[in-house]
Amino acid sequence: MLLEVENIDKSYKKSFGIMKKEKLQVLKDVSLCLYEGECLGIIGESGSGKSTLGRLMIGVEKADAGSIRIDGTEINKTTDKSIKEKVSVVFQDYSSSVNPRFKIIDILWEPIKVFEGLSQKDSLNKIIGLLEKVGLSKEYLYRYPHQLSGGQLQRVCIARAIATNPKFILLDEAISSLDVSIQVQILDLLIQLKKEMGISYVFITHDLAAVTYICDRVIFLKEGKVIEKVDCMHQLSNVKDPYSKALLHAAKAMNIREENYVYWQIS
Ligand SMILES: Nc1ncnc2c1ncn2[C@@H]1O[C@H](COP(=O)(O)OP(=O)(O)OP(=O)(O)O)[C@@H](O)[C@H]1O
Ligand SMILES: [Mg+2]
Repeated sequence: MLLEVENIDKSYKKSFGIMKKEKLQVLKDVSLCLYEGECLGIIGESGSGKSTLGRLMIGVEKADAGSIRIDGTEINKTTDKSIKEKVSVVFQDYSSSVNPRFKIIDILWEPIKVFEGLSQKDSLNKIIGLLEKVGLSKEYLYRYPHQLSGGQLQRVCIARAIATNPKFILLDEAISSLDVSIQVQILDLLIQLKKEMGISYVFITHDLAAVTYICDRVIFLKEGKVIEKVDCMHQLSNVKDPYSKALLHAAKAMNIREENYVYWQIS
C-alpha cells in the first residue's frame, strides 16, 4: 500500500477574543488508504477538512493523533528526506503557486536542482521533456507565468509536480479555477500521466462530476469525518448517507464520460 492514513485527529486553536483557548476539531478519526496506480477522490463541502487532510498527508503539518505512512514509513517520525520526493502537490491557485519573477525554465528547474543537484544547463533536456509530457512545447521555456493562460500554467504546475518522479500527487482543487473545457483537458492529461508513469493521485474536490471522470474510489468527508467510502465507482449511485446523496443530486451532470454516466443514475 502506498499511503496509509490511520485514525487521524486534527484541531486548530481558535485564536481570537474570548475563544482563545477553544479548539476547533477539523478532522476526527479519519482513516483511508491509497494503492499504487489509483486515483482516490476526497469529496466534501467547503470547510469539511479536505485541504487539512491533504496537508497532513504530504507532511507539511502534523496530526494530533493517528499515523500517516508512505510506503510503510511513518512520515512524521522519519528523518529520511527521500520520502519528500515521493510526494508532490498541485493546488487550485496556479498563479500564486509559482514565482511570478521566474521564467518557466526556472520554475521547472527548481525541483531538479533540489532533488538531483543538477545545473540548469544539465537539466535542459529533462525540462523540455517535462514540458512535452504536459503538452507544451519548448517555446514556453523563456516565458513568465503571466504570459501563459490559466490552463497552460496549470500544465506547468503539473510538469513541476512530476519532475521528481513522485509516487503520488496530491491534487487539491487542481482544476477548480479553470474553464470547464480546460478542466476536461487537464483531467485527460492527468489520466494519461497516471497510465504512463504509474503515479497515484489523491484528488480533492467538491465537484462530483470530476470525481466520476478521474477517480477509481472516493471517500465523502463531512465536518471532518469520513461518512462514506465508495470502493468502486459503479457503486456511486448506491451511497447511503443523506449528505452523500445530496452531493450526488447537486452535482452537475456535465463532463461525465459516457461509460460513467450510469454511476450517476440515482434513485
Ligand atoms: N491553519 C488553520 N488555523 C485555524 N483553522 C484552520 C486552519 N486551516 C484550516 N482551518 C479551519 O479548518 C476547517 C477546515 O478547513 P479546510 O481548508 O481543510 O477545508 P476544505 O474542506 O479544504 O474547504 P474548501 O473546500 O473551502 O477548500 C475550516 O473551518 C478552516 O477554517
Ligand atoms: Mg480546501
